[in-house]
Amino acid sequence: MKEFLADKITQLKPSGIRKFFDIVATMKDVISLGIGEPDFATPEPIIRAGIKSLEMGETHYTSNQGLIKLREAVADQIHKLYGVNYDPATEILMSVGVSEALYLIFTAILDPGDEVIIPNPCFVSYQAEVDLAGGVAVEIPTFMKDNFEPEPDLIERAITPRTKAIFIGYPNNPTGAVASRETLLRIAEIAEKHDLLVISDEIYDRLVYGVEHICFPSLPNMRERSVLLGGFSKAYAMTGWRIGYVAAPAHILQGLVRIHQYTVMSAPTVSQYAAIEALRVGEPYVQQMLAEYDRRRKLIVKGFNRLGLDTFEPKGAFYAFPKVSNCGLSDEEFCDRLLKEAGVAMVPGTAFGAAGAGFARASYATSYEKIEEALQRIETFLKKNTCQ
Ligand SMILES: Cc1ncc(COP(=O)(O)O)c(C=O)c1O
Repeated sequence: MKEFLADKITQLKPSGIRKFFDIVATMKDVISLGIGEPDFATPEPIIRAGIKSLEMGETHYTSNQGLIKLREAVADQIHKLYGVNYDPATEILMSVGVSEALYLIFTAILDPGDEVIIPNPCFVSYQAEVDLAGGVAVEIPTFMKDNFEPEPDLIERAITPRTKAIFIGYPNNPTGAVASRETLLRIAEIAEKHDLLVISDEIYDRLVYGVEHICFPSLPNMRERSVLLGGFSKAYAMTGWRIGYVAAPAHILQGLVRIHQYTVMSAPTVSQYAAIEALRVGEPYVQQMLAEYDRRRKLIVKGFNRLGLDTFEPKGAFYAFPKVSNCGLSDEEFCDRLLKEAGVAMVPGTAFGAAGAGFARASYATSYEKIEEALQRIETFLKKNTCQ
C-alpha cells in the first residue's frame, strides 16, 4: 500500500515526554516527577458548576468565540491583574486549552518558511506546532547562569528577513524561570525595532513564588503587537477540561477565529461554564494550591542541591530543572537508568530542546511525601553510581 501520511507528519518527531511515559506506564512502584499537570482535583465549586450546566441542558455549541459571559470574565481578569484592556466581543477567543491556541496562532500567521524565534528549553509543543504550520522554529539557548532567562541579544542576532514573531513562555516549562521586566522590555524594544509579533504563553502566570509576573502585552506599546495565550489547566487544576484562551488585537484574533470555527467550532460548553465559576470563586483555591507547590518547591530544590545536583531556584510554574551531568551520563541515560534502577521518573532535558542537554525536569506537582521518597531513592542511586 501507498504511504498515506504526509511527509510533514512522518517527519514530526514524537514528543520526548510521551516516549518516556510509555515506559513508565509498564512499570510498578514508580514515583513520577514527570507529570506536567496539577495532582490536585479541580476545586469542588468549579466541578459543581460544570455539572449544573449539564443538568440545565447546556449541552449545545456556544458561539465560536465562546460564551460572551466567559469572555467578559476573562477580559475582567486580565484587566484586574495586569491593567490591559481587551474587548470581549472581538479580542478574546476561548480555545481548547493553550494547546489549540498554539495551533491557531502559528497556522494563522505563518506562510511557508516564515521563522519564529523560540528560546529553549521550552514546552515541547512550540516547535512541533511551528513545523506543522509550515514555519521554521529558530531555537535560541537559555542558560542556567542567566537563571534561564532569554538573552535579548541572542534573539536580536537570530532575526532574519523571514522572522515573523518572537515566542516567549514565562513562567517557563521546564526550567521554572520567570522573565524579569528588564528582559521583557528589551524584547519589546527588539520587537518594535524589527516590526515583529510577540506571542506570549502565560499559562503559568498565577504560579509565581515571591516574584512579579509581567504580562507581556502590558508593556508600553506591546498590546498591539502581541498575542496572549492563557488558560485554566494549571492554576485551577483543570487540565482535563480543555479550556484556555487567546487575547489579541481584533485584526489578529479574528484570523484565529476563522480557523477555530472550522476545526473545533467552539470550546467544550461544560468547561466554559466551569471556567466562569473558576474566575468567580476560584482565587482562594489558587492561593491554597500555590502555597502547597511552594512548600514542595523548597523541599525539592534543597534536596537536589544537597545531593550535588545543581538546581537553579525556580520562581514559577511547578518544575525544578537540576543539572544531572555529574555522573558522566547524558540526560537521557540518566533518566533512563534512574527510572529502571531507582523507580523515579524524570524527563530528560533534551526533550525540551538542545539547550536542555545535561539537565532533567522534575515536576513537584506531586505530594510532599512522594517527593521526600523520590529524593531518598535518587540519593541511593547517585551513591551506587558514584556520582556524589
Ligand atoms: C508552557 C505550557 N503551555 C501550554 C500547555 C498546554 O496547556 P493546555 O492544557 O491549556 O492545553 C502546557 C502544558 O503542559 C505548558 O506547560
